[in-house]
Amino acid sequence: MSSELSPIDKAKFVSAKHAAQFVESGMRVGLGTGSTAAWLVKCLGEKVRDEGLRIKGVPTSTRTAELARDVGIDVISLDEAKWLDLTIDGADEFDGELNLIKGGGGALLQEKIVATASDRMVVIADIGKEVETLGAFPLPVEVIPFGWQTTQALVEETLVSMDVLGRDSTLRMNGEVPFVTDEGNHIIDLHLKRIGNARQLALVLNQMPGVVENGLFIDICDTVVLGFGDGKVEIRDITDGTVETERFDLQESENLFSDLTK
Ligand code: A5P
Repeated sequence: MSSELSPIDKAKFVSAKHAAQFVESGMRVGLGTGSTAAWLVKCLGEKVRDEGLRIKGVPTSTRTAELARDVGIDVISLDEAKWLDLTIDGADEFDGELNLIKGGGGALLQEKIVATASDRMVVIADIGKEVETLGAFPLPVEVIPFGWQTTQALVEETLVSMDVLGRDSTLRMNGEVPFVTDEGNHIIDLHLKRIGNARQLALVLNQMPGVVENGLFIDICDTVVLGFGDGKVEIRDITDGTVETERFDLQESENLFSDLTK
């Protein structure tokens, strides 16, 4: 089965499999959204089923909530949990300071609330997500539907005074209709190409009326677990300044792969 997975999928899988080891019984855990986070939820489901892991999971989207319940994780709301021990989520880009762009899957608002309410945020990612400077991936900005075109125009105008390379923006679509987030909002993707000052941009965007949240996660992520297609995993921790490596035997993981891809 492992040979049927692409190198990117293998990289996502080993990164998620390693990060699942951070989760201990009794923890309240934020569960991210996206294809890498889906591997994590499946790995945690295996541990719940086979190893008796007992956790409370707080999902960051309806998609993740559904998957978590399907694999047997006890799902609770953030308000029930109040504070979390750990959140594990994917990312669209991360830089050397572990600042992130998130929201490619449209769940940035719940993802940021959940990650911020956690003692520790761990990002799981394949090597393709690492960048020197954020901004090649379009930056998602969640806006309320009321007056969204006016908000978009204001955002574009504001970008003129920001340290960015591109200023185009597009309303995210779902086929013929605007994409709607779990909170009933729209997403405007900013095609900035390069973000010179991500901290400043994040603050400025969130001050604009109509903007609910932006996909820049600044000083939120503590650790990145980086997966490679050959089974290698690199764990970078910004607090300790440490880099560790581990290697999974993908042949040995074959049974798990076939279980998890069902
Ligand atoms: C969801 O809104 C996003 O923030 C995802 O975490 C991000 O897009 C990464 O997704 P993949 O793991 O699918 O690449």
